[in-house]
Amino acid sequence: MSFAGKHAIVTGAGSGIGAALCRALDLAGAHVVCTDIDRSAAEATASSLSPRARAATLDVTDAGAVQAAVDDVVGRAGRLDLMFNNAGIVWGGETELLTLDQWNAIIDINLRGVVHGVVAAYPQMLRQGDGHIINTASMAGLAAGGQLTSYVATKHAVVGLSMALRSEAVPRGVGVLVVCPAAVETPILDKGAVGSFGGRDYFLKTQGGKAYDADQLARDILRAIERNKAILVKPTVAHAQWLFARLAPVMMNRLSMRFTSPQAKRSPSRAVDSG
Ligand SMILES: NC(=O)c1ccc[n+]([C@@H]2O[C@H](COP(=O)([O-])OP(=O)(O)OC[C@H]3O[C@@H](n4cnc5c(N)ncnc54)[C@H](O)[C@@H]3O)[C@@H](O)[C@H]2O)c1
Repeated sequence: MSFAGKHAIVTGAGSGIGAALCRALDLAGAHVVCTDIDRSAAEATASSLSPRARAATLDVTDAGAVQAAVDDVVGRAGRLDLMFNNAGIVWGGETELLTLDQWNAIIDINLRGVVHGVVAAYPQMLRQGDGHIINTASMAGLAAGGQLTSYVATKHAVVGLSMALRSEAVPRGVGVLVVCPAAVETPILDKGAVGSFGGRDYFLKTQGGKAYDADQLARDILRAIERNKAILVKPTVAHAQWLFARLAPVMMNRLSMRFTSPQAKRSPSRAVDSG
């Protein structure tokens, strides 16, 4: 697959992975709409790219606005080739400290935001007979790390949604890729800390000590689209964590307690269940 001349929408394009995706797509010759709830951030991304790129304000929690963004591209170009449902937030910390408003916000952005992208783009791609939907989940969609309960819940849902959709979509000409990176070097690592959460230190400690490069991830994602892969896990060392979570989920859970529970750090044998 060549990306030259393809029409793409990227959500959460004002920062981090979304901005890197826009750079990679632009370099590959695609027409990319860089969207973000933060208008000036979306504009900053688009203005660093070729004149093919443009910026748009888009809050992914607004289903009508996501539909309008897709309709706008289809109105101008006659088609939409690539829909990147990438916008996301994180809350890290003790689950009892999360308010219902925080729960609703993360569900609205991380899960409903993806649903809105699928509802808007998938029927159009079916009409075209081709296209690709790319959902940014996380390693937290494959392994359930503590102190990330709300994030893990939304990202597991995005993995399930993507795999189920893929089984229907691929036979009808539409690709679906779910992206599951471990820590990537973006501003999100320093956001969303609640209570005693260690933020960046926690992510790096639990995920190999080093954050992956966002531009490298974007290039990996384009290659995975070309190969019509189902799941992209990066960096490669994260495959071990993925395998461990699948083969020994209870052991994985015990290990997670060592990172998250102060009680477990003091007395692991008392805090860990026998499951
Ligand atoms: N960086 C990591 O370590 C990492 C790892 C795994 C998965 N992810 C996922 O990658 C995606 C991108 O995250 P990032 O690391 O680039 O974070 P980031 O904070 O750098 O960028 C997220 C962008 O999403 C935008 N956004 C937030 N709410 C929005 C909304 N309602 N509508 C539209 N845009 C909104 C923000 O303005 C921001 O520009 C997220 O889904 C995140 O969960 C990140």
